[in-house]
Amino acid sequence: MELNTIILGDCLEELKKLQENSVDLIFADPPYNMQLKNNLYRPNNTKVAGVDDSWDKFASFADYDAFCLAWLRECRRLVKDTGSIWVIGSYHNIFRIGALMLNLGFWILNEVTWHKRNPMPNFHGKRFTNATETLLWCSKGEAYKKYTFNYKLMKRYNGGKQMTSVWQIGLCVGAERLKGQDGKKAHATQKPEELLKRVIVATTKQNDIILDPFFGTGTTGAVAKKLKRNFIGIEKESSYRALAQKRIESIEDFFAEADWVEDAKEKQIRVPFARLIKEGIIKAGELLYARQSGAKALVLADGTVQYKSARGSIHKIGALIQETPSCNGWQFWYIVRDHESILIDRLRHTYLSGHSAP
Ligand SMILES: C[S@@+](CC[C@H](N)C(=O)[O-])C[C@H]1O[C@@H](n2cnc3c(N)ncnc32)[C@H](O)[C@@H]1O
Repeated sequence: MELNTIILGDCLEELKKLQENSVDLIFADPPYNMQLKNNLYRPNNTKVAGVDDSWDKFASFADYDAFCLAWLRECRRLVKDTGSIWVIGSYHNIFRIGALMLNLGFWILNEVTWHKRNPMPNFHGKRFTNATETLLWCSKGEAYKKYTFNYKLMKRYNGGKQMTSVWQIGLCVGAERLKGQDGKKAHATQKPEELLKRVIVATTKQNDIILDPFFGTGTTGAVAKKLKRNFIGIEKESSYRALAQKRIESIEDFFAEADWVEDAKEKQIRVPFARLIKEGIIKAGELLYARQSGAKALVLADGTVQYKSARGSIHKIGALIQETPSCNGWQFWYIVRDHESILIDRLRHTYLSGHSAP
């Protein structure tokens, strides 16, 4: 597959030509089927530049659903088992798309709300101002758990606080907005780079391949390039393809690596509990004591623990005792050393301090 290229054509045909299980991430910003019937005017009688392009028009909901089913099915074929897909939409289409995706077997990991800081007002005052769009982030299915999620990077990106699923980002305006010779917007729905930056930093690694079947002005490709990822775009309008090509070729400034490269400290070595047994730091046959309840579990030679008739990892047995869906066993179990009860996490850190991050 040729990388960093924009294929001119209909994605329904072009997706079929790509190799299955070949892309790490798909970002799809499809037609929303907004069904705008009449022109919209501001109170001063100027016309609002809504999305009335022919590519956004479908004869019926059934046609729209059939179109979306076809490209979504191809996307599921193309994404690697370790990959994931993002689809963005508004209230006009996202519920239809969500249902189609679930029926195809995709598994929703997050529903992210893009909260626009500067939405277009509701000129008639007949409804609330629409200030959000929705992104569905999905893995290939419930069983596909090895998708990329750069949790620590996103936490750092968010000033040290866990990032939530509500993203406050302004509309694409100012110098970032591509304009035609007439000074008007070159494309009705150009997305802000910040939105794509979060998507790509969070869910890909350097050199990954990102596919965008509705490339438009190429925001996905531009951000992928600035983050040193590869992209494949598909766009059926040649004028948009040319615009995107020029935009991407002219990029000289890349995003600062500090935004998307993990610190050595963040990239801490994962230590399986069994490693501490292998290293003789904890011995098979010793007892672990549960936080608060003091319930006891026996350490087994293979790194599992036995609690009554249940056997499993320190995390699984911790969750069982607490009756919670999950448990960080490192923070739950104590062990006795020099007549003192200490958290097993301390032993892990002592072990880690003698080893550097890879
Ligand atoms: C919502 S816009 C994407 C905007 C893009 N994310 C950006 O930031 O510029 C959808 C794009 O998909 C293109 N398109 C619509 N139907 C298509 C199809 N069947 N195959 C390929 N491109 C299509 C349209 O021409 C339009 O540029």
